[in-house]
Amino acid sequence: MERVRREAERDFPAVADRPGLDALYARDLARKGRIAVLFDQLAGLEPAARRTTGQLLNELKQHVTALHAAAATRVASPRSTHRGLDPTLPGRPHWLARPHVLSQVVDEIVEIFKGLGFGVADGPEIELDRYNFEALNFPADHPARDLQDTFYVDDAVLLRTQTSPMQVRILQRQPAPVRVIVPGRVFRNEALDATHAAEFNQVEGLYVDAHVSMVDLKATVTYFLRQLFGPRTAARFKPHFFPFTEPSVDVDMWFEAGGKSGWIEIMGAGMVHPNVFAAAGLDPETTTGFAFGLGVERVAMLRHGIGDIRAFLENDVRFLSQF
Ligand code: DAH
Repeated sequence: MERVRREAERDFPAVADRPGLDALYARDLARKGRIAVLFDQLAGLEPAARRTTGQLLNELKQHVTALHAAAATRVASPRSTHRGLDPTLPGRPHWLARPHVLSQVVDEIVEIFKGLGFGVADGPEIELDRYNFEALNFPADHPARDLQDTFYVDDAVLLRTQTSPMQVRILQRQPAPVRVIVPGRVFRNEALDATHAAEFNQVEGLYVDAHVSMVDLKATVTYFLRQLFGPRTAARFKPHFFPFTEPSVDVDMWFEAGGKSGWIEIMGAGMVHPNVFAAAGLDPETTTGFAFGLGVERVAMLRHGIGDIRAFLENDVRFLSQF
């Protein structure tokens, strides 16, 4: 009896089709099946044993009959041999995650500079006034600060307005030569519109060594822009002012899209100012280098024809899933 039960419990739930089920029925439940044979053997027992064993046999028969009925329902279903799976139903959609469009642009920029031997660093978004302004040659009352108003934690601590403070932090902890880029989020007290956000992203670059010249800056920046926007991209360098570079330049590039073309401003750059080297504890007489900074949103907007900077922060999947 025990063997019949064990094997029935094993075989009925596993049977896959009607002929298989019929074979199990014949083995266990049919008129000459194993349970019937057991019933026949009752005749040879004492009356008391016959009664208790007969009861157990009846329970076994009910149990195996129920197993058979369940298996019959299952194999009768034309749709499936597996309970709970209906292959005729439409599939469930799979959502494929991907990096934010701004992260994709940052990754591309990082890859280009890695190819030139640059490393990657990141720094604090809550920064000291000392690194964000003072060490970058913006003294306390310098008017250049007006262009970068920000959110202050207290007089000495603020949300950084640029990734440039990492120039000094890196130079303080690492000896030259330095080749590094610093992607990161920055903050400004801006009135919001299609081209101004109160938080956005920059990539800073810094190259420090002996005998670095403007030629290195121009060659590196031009190479970078050609990698990012195509080999025919032209770059133009215009004199400009930043407190932490001397000389400073604004870099324009020639851009053509949708039938329009023209020079557009793409990044700031310059030769690192001696005062910045001094603030980092380096000898401004013997140390040379160039730096640059560009806006990630700007690049993404040009690259993809995006017209409103606010779209990057809205987290609308209808926008994000296009990239
Ligand atoms: N930090 C500047 C800004 O936010 C951008 C910049 C300009 C960075 C020139 C530089 C640089 O490293 O050399 O406007």
